[in-house]
Amino acid sequence: MSVELHYNRQQTNAALGPSLFDYAEKLGIQVPTSCHKQGMCKECLVEVVEGMELLTPRSPEEKHLKENFRLSCRCHVAADFGIVRCYTMRRGDLRIERHALQLPVRDQKSPLDPAVTRDGDRILLDGVEIDRRLGPIHGLAMDLGTTTVVVRLLNLETGEIVADAAFENPQRFGGSDVMSRIHYDTLDGTRLLQRTLAGYLNHAVAEFPVDPKSIYEMVVAGNSTMRDLFFGLNVYSIGQSPYRSITELDMAEGRRTTTSLVESARRLLLPLHPKARVYGLPIISGHVGADAAACLLAVDLAREERLVALMDIGTNTELILGNKNKILAASCPAGPAFEGGKITCGMPGLPGAIEKVAINADGSMRFQVIGDGPAEGICGSGLIDLLSELLRAERMNTLGRFHHGDEAIVLDAKNGAPICFTESDVNELAQAKGANVAGLHVIFDQYGARFDDLDVFYLAGGFGRHLNVSSAKRIGLIPNIDGAKIRQVGNASIEGASLALLSRTRRAELEEMVRRVTHCRLETHPGFFNYFVEGCQFNPVAALNTLQDSAP
Ligand code: FES
Repeated sequence: MSVELHYNRQQTNAALGPSLFDYAEKLGIQVPTSCHKQGMCKECLVEVVEGMELLTPRSPEEKHLKENFRLSCRCHVAADFGIVRCYTMRRGDLRIERHALQLPVRDQKSPLDPAVTRDGDRILLDGVEIDRRLGPIHGLAMDLGTTTVVVRLLNLETGEIVADAAFENPQRFGGSDVMSRIHYDTLDGTRLLQRTLAGYLNHAVAEFPVDPKSIYEMVVAGNSTMRDLFFGLNVYSIGQSPYRSITELDMAEGRRTTTSLVESARRLLLPLHPKARVYGLPIISGHVGADAAACLLAVDLAREERLVALMDIGTNTELILGNKNKILAASCPAGPAFEGGKITCGMPGLPGAIEKVAINADGSMRFQVIGDGPAEGICGSGLIDLLSELLRAERMNTLGRFHHGDEAIVLDAKNGAPICFTESDVNELAQAKGANVAGLHVIFDQYGARFDDLDVFYLAGGFGRHLNVSSAKRIGLIPNIDGAKIRQVGNASIEGASLALLSRTRRAELEEMVRRVTHCRLETHPGFFNYFVEGCQFNPVAALNTLQDSAP
């Protein structure tokens, strides 16, 4: 949600202007809070995108914040005139993928076999009575991403989705990628990231249309760092080579038999039933986390005979390749460029973002903007289209250089600040693409398969759901395979977490399957660097061969 404030403080006659929180309240914008503006809960976080210099200096309660993040209850307007624009961390209109589609599990009803069951009015968890209740019983599934969070409320007796919620991960003040969050959490030492997210989850649960005490179990999918931060574990080791979660290290030392986690909701500061259990899905290895594990369930890999690949493009791209007999997984540190990060006019998938681009025969641009209002920037799917169209119209070469000596391409100049795209933006996207493509080549190489051997290529996640497949193929972001094999499935991770919540059989199946996955460590593959360099160019990725045939 955004707050835009045009003000003249002299008219208010106040020595210290109202806080940003006060202004937001006056505008009817809900800011998360648990401490009623006392500077204690740290939930009223806002990102100031304009007018930072017009605000009071940071208060002691804000010393944990960097850059343009502020606590809205602690920061006041200090100048007499001006414009302040900021966002709360609850941008309800951010395009967050809440559901999945075109998954095989949709067609074959999974048996309903949750850990929480009922015997008359007795509520049992793994057969042990934990409560007495006659009304419906519920569980939560969560996909905890670095950028976004999706929570789904399910009826454990019918499997029906009762409600869901989605919001930006409020841990953004600790950095936009997992390495920054690890660094932040290690230096902070107070588990502020964990507590901030728990505060937001409390609000999400409070808004669900059921008694929170009727929620008896929660299943969490997320990358290794997000999952471990949520459970309050030390994440330092995930940021250091060989990049292992503390659960993996413990397992290697024989101190545990699985990387999955179990904790009580109370210890995780969640307002569920006091005896509710929280189960963190197992991680696969290193940065290939519990979100990738959830995807294994979602695509029903344990029963899959065909050769399938799954690619979830994001700040950290996950790759899975295989079938019921052999599974490989990898993680590519692609960075935030495809989410609009580090791009001059990049922005998330919010209203105002250009999401589709085409170049007309006369060289003019036409585009589609989310929400149909004026364009404010360009999001990931728009960037893919733009690169593809620049190539097609021969305004950019395959090395990412603009023709005609252009330094920047202007997409829209109607509003005060023109929306432009520069060669350095192309460079950021080229490097993100290079990491993804190198990951694809390495995992196929290691598997001994060619792209054309694939039967199904699942594009998971919000970005994969909205990108134009033809554009992605033209710029070489995904293999140039038959379009009929490509399925844009949306949020497979929340689907996998839901399956694990509703079925102990599926949960056990996942625990077993995760042990069989081979983690393909990209950084140690001898061809990685050359694949990366090749992947930075904007050429289609050949369908018939990986670089096995032309590998250096
Ligand atoms: S409202 Fe709690 S810190 Fe601002």
